[in-house]
Amino acid sequence: MEIKLVSQKLTDVKTDWLVVGIAAPPEISDTISELDAALGGRITRLIEAKDISGKLAERLTIFDAEGIASGRLLIVGLGKSDELTQSRLNKAIASAARQISEKKEVSIAVALSAATDTLDAAAIAETTTTAIVVSTQGQGLYQNEPTRHAFSTTMIVGDDSETTKAAVEKGTILGEAINLTRELVNRPAGEIYPETFAAKAEKVAQQTGLKCEVLDENQLATEKMNSLLAVAQGSDRPARVAILEHRGSDANDPPLALIGKGVTFDSGGLSLKPGDGMKDMKCDMAGAATVLGAMSAIARLNLPVNVVGYMGLVENMVSGNSYKLGDVLTARNGLTIEVLNTDAEGRLVLADVLALAVDRGANRLVDAATLTGACVVALGSEVVGAFTNNQEWCNTLVEAAKNCDERVWQMPMDDDFGELLKSDVADCRNVGPRWGGAITAAKFLEKFVSDTPWVHLDIAGPAFAESNKPHREGGGTGVMVATMVELASG
Ligand code: BES
Ligand code: MN
Ligand code: ZN
Repeated sequence: MEIKLVSQKLTDVKTDWLVVGIAAPPEISDTISELDAALGGRITRLIEAKDISGKLAERLTIFDAEGIASGRLLIVGLGKSDELTQSRLNKAIASAARQISEKKEVSIAVALSAATDTLDAAAIAETTTTAIVVSTQGQGLYQNEPTRHAFSTTMIVGDDSETTKAAVEKGTILGEAINLTRELVNRPAGEIYPETFAAKAEKVAQQTGLKCEVLDENQLATEKMNSLLAVAQGSDRPARVAILEHRGSDANDPPLALIGKGVTFDSGGLSLKPGDGMKDMKCDMAGAATVLGAMSAIARLNLPVNVVGYMGLVENMVSGNSYKLGDVLTARNGLTIEVLNTDAEGRLVLADVLALAVDRGANRLVDAATLTGACVVALGSEVVGAFTNNQEWCNTLVEAAKNCDERVWQMPMDDDFGELLKSDVADCRNVGPRWGGAITAAKFLEKFVSDTPWVHLDIAGPAFAESNKPHREGGGTGVMVATMVELASG
């Protein structure tokens, strides 16, 4: 998506729609005083009449904006300026952009709001840009009459300083990375399966200058990734592991590894899910899509670091060849696993991919996975669960998430949870009791990371939104793409 940064007077911007923000309590700020004057004091009167309150995401439209070059004006509330955060600004801009994108073929210009005590000018420019890019891409990929339309032109009105230019550029790259993740999640499993996902990774690598390697089922067997392969064996779609490499610093610097669960469809296997639990399971590759999105942005931003992205791609299906309850698997690192529930498949995939990342020299690991319903029970659908074997590394990640205004909450990892995974026939079992299920899943993963600093992000709730909201499309959300990019930015 091309976004033009223009530095013009708001009254002179020629566009179908001009969007400006007003904080609460509303007042005629420097940004809009000229606009108000050109409109003959109309904004002042709307404020006096209490038609504009400045409340977050409140929208007021003026369709016959006489006196200014733009045809229509949309005034959106920003809430109290000392409470403005990235996610609140995103909410305001996204609600405005989404309303306008319901119409076909319109041009839009969004005025950058002034810096506040809580957000500086660069953060405002970057967040505004990302909000426009993300909010206007819908999940209606297969609608003959789409409900959402790309704008014919998109402008941001602000100063043309180097800082603002760079912020708009970064905001666009991040927004496009988030949209890449969202689109992969939104496309159904009939279209996105291990081979097509891997092909997409190769294509993105070509476009962004990443190195790409795809391991097929034979190579995965040679790599002793038999825990991952067991999950895939019930499907007609063969497994893949896609590996993307960004080399931004010295070849000897050990890389940060980003690892994603890419179960392109999770039927549950022989521990079959009921229909209600299965209907959204095209989203079970969201972790891998997050890694792909993040890697694309890391490459396009030329970050001066080494990062490797690993995507474990399988389909969890039912057939005469499915892996079975009671099967014992030998993972890449030699640990034997008794399978007591084939629906706890994500951890079996990640086990081998985490071990591969460690063996290939990563010195820090972050994985993202739609791993457990239990995490959604614990934290709801908007907060990501974080689990770690290294408090300092987890603090770094939590700080990165804070910088992006993404919500992460650390969960306990005490040893007694790990004891719940003891097996009588193998080194461990793949499920514990029902209670504490997100934690036992994380304790399982911990067995495969050696002592490498590692954070596991359970994104089962936030990765996929059930319904549309005024400020956000339902479906894939792209959660944690920004945090991963921020983490790599250091
Ligand atoms: N992919 C699911 C987890 C999930 C649930 C993701 C809801 C998104 C929304 C995962 O593979 C799974 O089935 N987990 C089981 C684990 C259980 C069998 C221990 C679960 O959460 O029920
Ligand atoms: Mn499952
Ligand atoms: Zn799953």
